[in-house]
Amino acid sequence: MNRIPDGRREATEIRLRAYPPDTLREEDFELHRAPAPRSLEAGELLLANSWLSLDASARLRMRESDSPYMPRIPLGAPISGFALGRVLSSRRSGFAEGDLVLHSSGWRTHAVIRADETGWRGPHRIVEEPGMSEAAYLTALGPAGLTAYVGMVKLLDPRPGDVVFVSAAGGGIGSLAVQLAKIAGARVVASAGSAEKRDLVLGLGADVALDRRVPDLSAALKAAAPGGIHGYFDCVGGPELEAAIHNARPGARIVMCGTVSNYDAQSGSLPRNLFDIVAKELSVKGYLTRSYAELLPTVQAEMAKLIRDGRLRDRVTILKGIDSVPRAFVSLFRGVHVGKLLIQL
Ligand SMILES: NC(=O)c1ccc[n+]([C@@H]2O[C@H](COP(=O)([O-])OP(=O)(O)OC[C@H]3O[C@@H](n4cnc5c(N)ncnc54)[C@H](OP(=O)(O)O)[C@@H]3O)[C@@H](O)[C@H]2O)c1
Repeated sequence: MNRIPDGRREATEIRLRAYPPDTLREEDFELHRAPAPRSLEAGELLLANSWLSLDASARLRMRESDSPYMPRIPLGAPISGFALGRVLSSRRSGFAEGDLVLHSSGWRTHAVIRADETGWRGPHRIVEEPGMSEAAYLTALGPAGLTAYVGMVKLLDPRPGDVVFVSAAGGGIGSLAVQLAKIAGARVVASAGSAEKRDLVLGLGADVALDRRVPDLSAALKAAAPGGIHGYFDCVGGPELEAAIHNARPGARIVMCGTVSNYDAQSGSLPRNLFDIVAKELSVKGYLTRSYAELLPTVQAEMAKLIRDGRLRDRVTILKGIDSVPRAFVSLFRGVHVGKLLIQL
């Protein structure tokens, strides 16, 4: 055992109090305060978290039944999620006091990373790129950037002149995907739920920004892309996916990053035109970022270069303090925040 000489005296973590029967509520969470961890076993790391990423997919684990995606979050246990922290104490080789670390023990002020935590969700020591903000290692240079890069650049792979549709384009991953499609030379039609987000995506280079809340999104997409779309980057499922299938050119590619419209309350609608995937011989590809973890250093370097060259911008909403997490996470499904939602501790 190794005694930890110093550190914040109190640790706070967010726990799940109850599985929400339908729509998530703030009271489904509780703040648990306890003395900060004081000792480490061999192979462990103690971190003081500085930034937490609130990711919509955590909602999929707040259900009574396990999903094939990841096991449910046990009631009363701390919630996991991506975070950045500085090493307070290390008994793990390759990590020293003061290192910046990307890991998945978020939703808490202090994290003890166990010896058996390895791989994509284990700790990654960050080699800081010159001129980049710390928070960027959760966004463009972190999991969000890798997700947008894999989906747009590796899988959808637009050609110059292709018409590409991106949904939830005012969110963290969507806003990066829009810019990567523009860099590839595509014409980009984006959709978002608020005027502020539509202004953002137009400012990031999208050619058209559609209001996802219009009664007939398929008709709006047809007006924006009369010749049809070559590719669709899907963050939403539901009406956006239906509109994309309806407007897809024969042989078009659909890359499924997520289906956020079905996460909270599971009441989102499903596309009614799935047979058109057959009729138009569309390619539909789902993916998980963790399967591409080895690309993280390459993507970090490429995204940092694009940011330094002024070709890519990171848009985030920052809320402060661990106490703000429950309200912030609930509001994520109301489309309140622009860009990636981060908590600064
Ligand atoms: N495949 C993977 O491995 C992987 C990894 C990470 C994330 N993802 C997925 O990527 C997607 C985007 O994640 P993110 O981190 O970028 O999210 P984010 O920054 O939190 O943005 C989510 C966006 O979703 C929109 N939204 C919320 N509820 C909606 C609804 N019912 N219908 C339509 N839009 C809705 C909101 O915009 P509006 O104003 O438009 O409502 C919001 O801007 C999610 O589906 C997530 O699960 C996938």
